[in-house]
Amino acid sequence: MTRDLFELKGRVAIITGGGGLLGYHHASAIADFGGIPVLLDIDGRALLTNSERLRLEFDDDFLTLEVDVTDFDSVVKARDKVLERHHRIDILINNAARNPKLDDGDNASFSRLENFPADQWQKDLDVGLGGAFTCSRVFGGHMASVGRGGVIINIASDLGIIAPDQRLYEVAGQANAAQPVKPVTYSVVKHGILGLTKYLATYWCGQGIRCNALSPGGVYTGQDAVFVSKLANLIPLGRMAKKEEYRGAIAFLSSDASSYMNGANLIIDGGRSVW
Ligand SMILES: NC(=O)c1ccc[n+]([C@@H]2O[C@H](COP(=O)([O-])OP(=O)(O)OC[C@H]3O[C@@H](n4cnc5c(N)ncnc54)[C@H](O)[C@@H]3O)[C@@H](O)[C@H]2O)c1
Repeated sequence: MTRDLFELKGRVAIITGGGGLLGYHHASAIADFGGIPVLLDIDGRALLTNSERLRLEFDDDFLTLEVDVTDFDSVVKARDKVLERHHRIDILINNAARNPKLDDGDNASFSRLENFPADQWQKDLDVGLGGAFTCSRVFGGHMASVGRGGVIINIASDLGIIAPDQRLYEVAGQANAAQPVKPVTYSVVKHGILGLTKYLATYWCGQGIRCNALSPGGVYTGQDAVFVSKLANLIPLGRMAKKEEYRGAIAFLSSDASSYMNGANLIIDGGRSVW
């Protein structure tokens, strides 16, 4: 039956950035189909919040690990802990990223390319790209060595396909040269993650490991009404995404329902990138 293709019973899924907004929904989607989510995040409190939500939803205590994805040794330790508890790893979702700020509190023009601090560039790339590389190396490498196949999902963005429309971020009354912008690192990380996806899709294809990207559009979380209305005008469906609207894609990409999909990018952006 077609619905059996989505079965994830007993499959262990590592979710980086598992303490975040979408990390919770990815985990919940995996658990809904019988999979075992393992949440990794640098933020211990955020992990507690999401694991408590999952416990209430599934009456189960899923493993959470406080891990900095930029730290190779801490990722290796996490892999060993997962194997100690579950004895297998089947799915990796590279979801952790920094959401670079448009201003630094005092200085609205901090995000402009001319002013963008080099250390900020480095930190954003270290987490969004370096973290995905390190986790793929450690968890993907393990899946490849076991030879049972596996799945890697890289979370990109509509801004991995199109450039940010900087008019969305304009502040009324601000001089042009001081207007905040979506930082360059967001574009670079999200375009880069699509390159990593194609690389991994071919690198371990002989070991049965598939790698695909998911490119979500912006999720509504109570942003400023002017921003929301300007963004909605750029989206054919006329609205931002609801936070639950990527669950189906995660279930599809994680499972045998997508068994012939490899190296692709599933774009779920209300049509923004085709307009
Ligand atoms: N929310 C959106 O509108 C949206 C849209 C498109 C793409 N995305 C992408 O989806 C993914 C999840 O987004 P989200 O909205 O849930 O973000 P979020 O900020 O809620 O979650 C990201 C998580 O990553 C964690 N993290 C940051 N640095 C880390 C590190 N060094 N090691 C381990 N964990 C680290 C954070 O603590 C946080 O919990 C991101 O890749 C984001 O770019 C989000």
